Amino acid sequence: MLAVKIAPLLVSVWAVPVDELPTLSDQQFYQQQCGVCHQADGWGVPFMQPALVESPRVMGDAEITLKMIFLGSAAIPEGTSEYDNQMPSFSGLKDEDIARLASYIRRTFGNQPDPVSVDAVKRARLRYVQD
Ligand code: HEC
Repeated sequence: MLAVKIAPLLVSVWAVPVDELPTLSDQQFYQQQCGVCHQADGWGVPFMQPALVESPRVMGDAEITLKMIFLGSAAIPEGTSEYDNQMPSFSGLKDEDIARLASYIRRTFGNQPDPVSVDAVKRARLRYVQD
């Protein structure tokens, strides 16, 4: 658990080099990018990071899910967080990979079968990432 708590202090943008990895299933890709904090079963860790299962930010408008993935903890209004850990930004991932992860968590934990399109991710990137 200690590593999980310290990791986000060291990296502001998550840095697993996706291109160098062998082809992963959606579940494995989720496990690699998000599962260390939110856990394989999506139930998170109490007080550290929230469950994605039945989370309003996973079940509702896909825009909210995407904002969370692009901004990480910066998406949460200051002073309102209920969690000790920090979520990094995943803006370093490609649009296709973000669409895949967003689709996976919404389908698996939020019961939202419609995939999140790459176009929706592109639009969200324009809104949330300044370069
Ligand atoms: C280093 C730990 C960490 C990693 C890795 C991580 N998250 Fe998070 N995530 C958090 C924390 C902490 C919060 C709670 C932020 C807050 O409310 O202060 C959070 C919140 C969320 C939420 C909002 C849930 C809610 O009900 O408030 C979503 C959605 C989410 N993360 C998706 C993801 C996805 C998708 C990935 C992988 C691409 C991911 N997270 C990777 C730590 C992490």
